[in-house]
Amino acid sequence: MSTPTDITSNVLLLEQTNQLKGLYSIIRNKNTHRSDFVFYSDRIIRLLVERGLDQLPVKQADITTPLDVTYSGVEFLGKICGVSIVRAGESMEQGLRDCCRSVRIGKILIQRDEETALPKLFYEKLPEDIEDRYVFLLDPMLATGGSAILATEVLISRGVKPERIFFLNLLAAPEGIKAYHDKFPEIKIITGGIDPKLDEKKRIDPGLGDFGDRYYCI
Ligand code: PRP
Ligand code: URA
Ligand code: MG
Repeated sequence: MSTPTDITSNVLLLEQTNQLKGLYSIIRNKNTHRSDFVFYSDRIIRLLVERGLDQLPVKQADITTPLDVTYSGVEFLGKICGVSIVRAGESMEQGLRDCCRSVRIGKILIQRDEETALPKLFYEKLPEDIEDRYVFLLDPMLATGGSAILATEVLISRGVKPERIFFLNLLAAPEGIKAYHDKFPEIKIITGGIDPKLDEKKRIDPGLGDFGDRYYCI
């Protein structure tokens, strides 16, 4: 019998440095204007992408430096792609592009019902060869976990192996982490913050409000 995967080993929380806390203090502040919200969210997104890239396998590769000396390095193995959960997840695409030139990006449109908080799938468009790729699933908020679970089911139905999926988000609630992990114990969640709870409207508490509205509209 296989042993259950330890939940904490599958949640990679960015190191809570003063710099990171400062970035979150700006985006959590309700008085922060959209241009700052976008700028500082983008900085956090970049850190999440870099942490995600750290998870990918490498192989040994010797190179020669300009001194004609051999340096024992590594090179990345495997192909990746991003998949954003539209709308808010699209905010994370540029951070991935900044690190991985001409990376392929798929989209899954899922919206959470404002009354029930239940997710609804409207549309998906994914790279043809997605089953051969490592997938960075992009959505800034993990609240109940409903949207991320639905998106991940789409990926798995397209042949992506769970252990090749990395779910990147800025803020997670314990309820969402547990629901996602119970369903997909092999998938790593890479997050920058874990808040104590959801409120009665299933918003992350204290949270930062509606990420999509703050990044795109307000
Ligand atoms: C938000 C967020 C996630 C979802 C998280 O999207 O971007 O997709 O809610 O909540 P859950 O974990 O309870 O499913 P929303 O549906 O509000 O749409 P948006 O991207 O247009 O803001
Ligand atoms: N989606 C958001 O944007 N914010 C929350 O607090 C929960 C879901
Ligand atoms: Mg969404």
